[in-house]
Amino acid sequence: MAQINPSILSADFARLADEAKAVQGADWLHVDVMDNHFVPNLTLGVPVVESLSRATKTPLDCHLMIEDPDRWAPQYVEAGAGSVTFHVEAAAAPVRLAREIRAKGARASMALKPATPIEPYEDLLPELDMLLIMTVEPGFGGQSFLDIMLPKIRRTRELISKHGLELWLQIDGGVSASTIERCAEAGADVFVAGSAVYGAHDPAEAVRTLRSLAEQ
Ligand code: DX5
Ligand code: ZN
Repeated sequence: MAQINPSILSADFARLADEAKAVQGADWLHVDVMDNHFVPNLTLGVPVVESLSRATKTPLDCHLMIEDPDRWAPQYVEAGAGSVTFHVEAAAAPVRLAREIRAKGARASMALKPATPIEPYEDLLPELDMLLIMTVEPGFGGQSFLDIMLPKIRRTRELISKHGLELWLQIDGGVSASTIERCAEAGADVFVAGSAVYGAHDPAEAVRTLRSLAEQ
């Protein structure tokens, strides 16, 4: 079953609670946390996640594009995130961090930027509930999908199958009605979509359309 996670990066930040309700039927709400160090953009932090988790029943999928996730990620679990993704490029101790996120009661997820290969991390996969393969350089919504990531998605799906793991394979960046089928075919099962959902006239309808394309 494909999961569709709208990214509130493309929503109206002055109306976050309403924007969360506008995508009813979505599996998770994707919350992009940026610190202007790991990526050249700044968004929101722990207090906003705390408020948002009270404002919506949709579980929060927090994507931390920040330095020092070892220090911050556990605070996002405490703030109410159901899933916390840290970048392996920024984590000092990814295994310890994944274990801490799980121990605090959230799903632990690790992200790879486009130039970061999956192979060195094969042995870490059992420590994770989800792996995120970025299909754009992180930092901004509305960028074009990087087709050159499809082989990495495919290889990662093969590794997951080889080890008999349950972990979800998420992709993020440039996901739209014209790219989602290729990603699903390559083996992704969790799809983040910002502009394709919040840029649509009817965001809830856009979620349904993406889901049906991914499940074809
Ligand atoms: C980019 C963020 C994405 C972003 C995706 O760094 O991680 O979650 O919101 O936006 P679209 O779907 O517009 O590419
Ligand atoms: Zn994201």
